[in-house]
Amino acid sequence: MTGTGSLPTEMTAIGITEPGGPEVLRPVTLPVPEPGEGEVLIRVRAAGVNRPDVMQRQGKYPPPPGAPDTPGLEIAGEVVATGADVLESLVGRRVCALVAGGGYAEYALASAAHCLPLPDDLSFVEAAAIPETLFTVWSNLFERAYVAEGDSVLVHGGTSGIGTMAIALCRLFDVRVFVTCGTEAKCAAAQALGAHAINYRSEDFVEAIRAETGGRGVTAVLDMIGGDYVPRNLKCLADDGRHVSIAVMGGAKATVFVPEIMQRRLTLTGSTLRPRSAAFKALLTGEIRDSVWPMVEDGSLRPVIDRSFPLAEAATAHVRMEAGDHVGKIVLEVRA
Ligand SMILES: NC(=O)c1ccc[n+]([C@@H]2O[C@H](COP(=O)([O-])OP(=O)(O)OC[C@H]3O[C@@H](n4cnc5c(N)ncnc54)[C@H](OP(=O)(O)O)[C@@H]3O)[C@@H](O)[C@H]2O)c1
Repeated sequence: MTGTGSLPTEMTAIGITEPGGPEVLRPVTLPVPEPGEGEVLIRVRAAGVNRPDVMQRQGKYPPPPGAPDTPGLEIAGEVVATGADVLESLVGRRVCALVAGGGYAEYALASAAHCLPLPDDLSFVEAAAIPETLFTVWSNLFERAYVAEGDSVLVHGGTSGIGTMAIALCRLFDVRVFVTCGTEAKCAAAQALGAHAINYRSEDFVEAIRAETGGRGVTAVLDMIGGDYVPRNLKCLADDGRHVSIAVMGGAKATVFVPEIMQRRLTLTGSTLRPRSAAFKALLTGEIRDSVWPMVEDGSLRPVIDRSFPLAEAATAHVRMEAGDHVGKIVLEVRA
């Protein structure tokens, strides 16, 4: 290991004492991890909070084999040490990284190939709010559903971390974006970001999409609800449309009319990011560095930040996420 030489041996992290409510998130003392081959040790300045962390805390989304038990899927901070086969010149660099766990801590390991460099004017809080949603939206909407300029999409959870990133990317790539939200206030927030927002409690989103697209439908649906949304989503798709599942918050089972898939040549697909191989994530990091990161560097892509909390208040951050009133990303800050 090569590094700054003055690293502590122990650190504060947030542990999940047992599956349960936010109160099971408690500060614990853990050894500072040592970077292995291809890894960097990052002094974490901020860590993004994601809905999958809530599910992990509830015991519904265990870490994949080999991943730390500590929650946290994205971090920003400074590289303080490097493992074998990693350029020592990375030490001192400000980076953000996608990690398979371990983000709610003062120090965390990341694969050097899953890190992205921070422009000077991007804060650690903003940077920590980017990787999980950017990687998820890019790989599912722009790659899996191959959405491109001139297309239109429907994204549920318009003010979620995922939804706000989807709006930002669609705007930058000239894709018309419709979103659904559960309140008028959330619809107003999504509209202000540049989406056409549909309040699913007062309006039938299938009818709204038909009306807004002249009956044609959208190119793709990014779905995090599942259940009875799936057949309704298919009705929102244009012929040859793509339906991408990234979560099933409304139910894991759906009934679809198979002839509709055949007659209108629809594609049903989906993915989960966390368990994908390190090689896949490295490839995705490279694609994002080439295709999207220039927009982060020139300031045109910024995450929507709801609130940040000190690391020790991770439980309060989860309470806020579960209350569902947030718009954009919730972030934990590790103060120097
Ligand atoms: N497949 C992947 O690789 C991947 C990666 C990251 C995240 N995800 C998934 O993407 C979803 C969004 O993640 P996030 O971190 O952006 O979450 P988030 O900010 O907490 O947003 C969740 C949104 O979903 C809406 N919602 C609708 N039905 C819901 C329900 N039954 N329970 C809770 N929320 C509901 C809420 O908006 P309204 O109140 O307006 O309905 C809320 O804005 C999560 O399901 C997460 O697991 C998947």
